Amino acid sequence: MNPPWWQTAVFYQIYPRSFADSNGDGIGDLDGITAHLDYLNDGTDRSLGIDAIWLSPINPSPLKDWGYDVSDYCGIHPELGDLPSFDRMLAEAHRRKIRIILDLVPNHTSDQHPWFVESRSSRRNPKRDWYIWVAGEPDRPPNNWLSSFGGPAWEYDPATASWYMHSFLKEQPDLNYRNPEVVEAMHAAIAFWLDRGVDGFRVDVISYLMKDAALRDNPPLTDSNIFTRRDPQGLQLHLYDQELPEAHDVIRGFRRVLDRYRDRMMVGEVWVREQKALAAFLRPDQIQLAFNFRFFMCPWEAAAFRNVIEETEDILPLKSGAWPTYTLSNHDFSRHISRYQSGDETEARARAAIVMLLTVRGTPFLYYGEEIGMRDGNVPFFAARDKVGRDHCRTPMQWSAGKNGGFSVSDHPWLPVGDCATINVERQRDDDRSMLGFYRRLIRLRKKTPALLEGSYRAIPAPGDCLVFCRERPDEKGIQSVMVAINFSGAERRFDSPKGTILLSTIEGREGESIGGSLRLAANEAVIVESSR
Ligand code: NOJ
Ligand code: CA
Repeated sequence: MNPPWWQTAVFYQIYPRSFADSNGDGIGDLDGITAHLDYLNDGTDRSLGIDAIWLSPINPSPLKDWGYDVSDYCGIHPELGDLPSFDRMLAEAHRRKIRIILDLVPNHTSDQHPWFVESRSSRRNPKRDWYIWVAGEPDRPPNNWLSSFGGPAWEYDPATASWYMHSFLKEQPDLNYRNPEVVEAMHAAIAFWLDRGVDGFRVDVISYLMKDAALRDNPPLTDSNIFTRRDPQGLQLHLYDQELPEAHDVIRGFRRVLDRYRDRMMVGEVWVREQKALAAFLRPDQIQLAFNFRFFMCPWEAAAFRNVIEETEDILPLKSGAWPTYTLSNHDFSRHISRYQSGDETEARARAAIVMLLTVRGTPFLYYGEEIGMRDGNVPFFAARDKVGRDHCRTPMQWSAGKNGGFSVSDHPWLPVGDCATINVERQRDDDRSMLGFYRRLIRLRKKTPALLEGSYRAIPAPGDCLVFCRERPDEKGIQSVMVAINFSGAERRFDSPKGTILLSTIEGREGESIGGSLRLAANEAVIVESSR
C-alpha cells in the first residue's frame, strides 16, 4: 500500500506577504504566489520540485501578530487578494500537483473579531462565554499564567470589570473550547476551506487549546530544561494552561470534520514539555503530523542532531504508524543558514543540513528562500514590523538582483529586502552547482529513492562529529539500503563503511564514485551512498 501523500511530500512554507507582490503595493499576495508556482514545481527537473505548500495566515486580520490574529476565519486579507484569487491559486497549484495547506489559528482570535467584540460588550452577551473571562479588580489578575510574548496572560477590561485571557498578545484573546458553540464555529471554518478544496491545515499552537476549568496557578519550573526556558513562559511548568488532556478531544473533533473529505491532513504546531508527549497527538483519530522543533535548538554538532533523531525514533518508531516531521527554519526563528553561519563554511553547512533534513525518516518542511541560501535580513529599528522581533526571518523573497530583489516594484516594500545582489533565484536558476541546483537534485533523488521516502532508520557507528545512518526498505531485489553520512566538523574524516556508490555529495564531482569499505568526507561534507548488493 502506498503511504499517504503527507508522508512522502516535501512541504514548502510560504510567508505570503513576503513571497511575490503582483500589484506593486509592496506586499506579497496570492496572485504573486500563483505567478511563481512553476518555480516551485512545473513538473520538470528545472523547477524546485516541492509537493505541497503551507501558507502562513491569509485571513483578514488587524496584523498585530501578522495574521495570527484572525478577524474573519472565512475570508482573505484584502492586501493578499480575495476569494476568487484564492480559488485561482488553488486550481493552478492543483493543476501542477502541488497541494496547499492553510494556517488554522484556532486557539485565539483577534480582539477585532466580531465574536470578541460581542463577547466584550457585556457580561450578559450570548458570546460572553466564547472567551475566558473572569470578573475581578484591576491589578489582581485571576492567576499567575504568563503570555508567551511576555507579561501576564490576562488583560483587564474596565468596561465590564473583568479580565480576559490571552496566551499571546493582548490583541489575541483565547477562545473557550469548553463552550460547544465555539467548537461548532471552528468546525464550520474548517469545513469552509475544505469545501473550497484545500488539502489541509497547519494548526497553530494546537497544544494550547484547553485551559484548566478551575484556572489553577501554574507551579514554578524547578528543573533546568533549557528547552522550556526559551520564552518568558519558561519560568513555569505549564500544567494548567497548556497540554491539557482535554485538548485531545478538541483535536479529535477537528479530525472528524477532516475525515468527511478525502485525503486531507493536519500538521500541528505542538509545543510539549517532553518530546514523548508528541505521540499522544499522532493517533489515528488526531493529527497526521506534528512538528518536531528540536532541530531549532541544536548547535552545529553531530551529537545534538543524532540525539534528536534517535529520541524521535524511540518515541515514534516505524511500526507505530506515527510519522516524524522535521524542519530547520520557519517564520518564528532565525534562518538555519544564519544560525549556523561560520565564515566560508556557511554554504557547506547549509548544504549538509539540507541533506540531513531531506534524508532523515520523516516529512521535511522547507521555508521559502532557504533553497537559494537566503540569510536573515537586516531590519533596522525604524523599519521593524513585528512586536516580538521576528522580522529578520520574514524578509522578501529574492528573485533577482533588480529593484527590491524582483519581489515588488514598489518604492516601499513592507519589509526591507536582504542581500539580493549576491543571493537571488535568477543567478542560480541555470546553475546546477548553485544552492538552488543542489536543492533541486536532492529533492529529485529523494523522490525516486523509495528507501529515503519510506525506509527504516538505523544509526551507523562513525566518528563522533559525523552523523551516519542507513535508510532501508525491502523491494523486489531484496533490501534497498541507502547510507547518509554527514561530517559536522571543519576537518576531513574517514571511517569504515559499507560498500556502495555515491548518489549525491555536497561536493562536486563525487557522484558515481565507488566506496570500497572506507569513506572519506571532506569538512562539512554530506554524501548519500547506495549500498552495493
Ligand atoms: C505560533 C506562530 O508560529 C507564531 O508566529 C504566532 O505568533 C503564535 N503561534 C501565535 O499565534
Ligand atoms: Ca501586493
